[in-house]
Amino acid sequence: MTVHFIGAGPGAPDLLTLRGRDRIAGSPVCLYAGSLIPTAMLDHCPPGARIVNTAPLSLDQIIGEIQTAHDAGQDVARLHSGDLSIWSAMGEQLRRLRDLDIPFTITPGVPAFAAAAAALEVELTLPELVQSVVLTRTPGRASTMPAAETLTAFAATGATLAIHLSVHNLAQVVADLTPSYGPECPVAIVWRASWPDQQIERATLATIAQAIEGKPDRTALILVGKALAAENFVESSLYATGYDRRFRPQSADSKFAGDLA
Ligand SMILES: C[S@@+](CC[C@H](N)C(=O)[O-])C[C@H]1O[C@@H](n2cnc3c(N)ncnc32)[C@H](O)[C@@H]1O
Repeated sequence: MTVHFIGAGPGAPDLLTLRGRDRIAGSPVCLYAGSLIPTAMLDHCPPGARIVNTAPLSLDQIIGEIQTAHDAGQDVARLHSGDLSIWSAMGEQLRRLRDLDIPFTITPGVPAFAAAAAALEVELTLPELVQSVVLTRTPGRASTMPAAETLTAFAATGATLAIHLSVHNLAQVVADLTPSYGPECPVAIVWRASWPDQQIERATLATIAQAIEGKPDRTALILVGKALAAENFVESSLYATGYDRRFRPQSADSKFAGDLA
């Protein structure tokens, strides 16, 4: 018996890996994390599967479900939204499973920030302009932030910021970022990226609050940084004519000349 943690993607049912789909199909028990998992994802479960929404359960109850499946020798598909490596609460479940000696696998998924960037049709890193993306959040009722992880500190780097779990806190986000990024810095908010009711708003730090009046205050990503609206960035060297590289040696004298043989 194995617990298969599966990143179920940002919302669109076809943004699931083939491995994830097959692991769901092979598991007679499916535990899924509430409203961010589309019900179409559950169609991959085998007939007669025990399907449990874990949103109202405590960690102890979730582990209880897994223990029951373990005792019955039944594999479990454990679905979380997006990818499992960020804000999935997988870490605490893995720790319990290690203590209980219950085997598990992990199948990554498409994270919401990638779906939001796709919806915006932007690359979040651009040559010479910005080469880092910070995945972060603001403090919530259930989660404090480590003291050094402030938006002000991240803003000082000039990186593209992908701010999760914070659209209800936009005024604070704008106040923290404006001193470093300036009021004209581009901002985009994507609600429910990849869902049929996806919404997008583009503005600047100065205008975003007004632009989103009346919009939902959850399930949105705030993206901030100059990459969002940059036009005059340089092209990458990788594909530049004349750039000598392993997969495109430029002459017989290139240090890469023998590599493709
Ligand atoms: C608990 S976190 C889960 C993140 C997830 N593990 C991931 O890889 O994207 C939930 C937050 O992710 C963001 N989020 C999740 N799905 C989203 C979507 N489809 N569109 C926009 N933001 C989304 C929102 O900021 C939301 O408050």
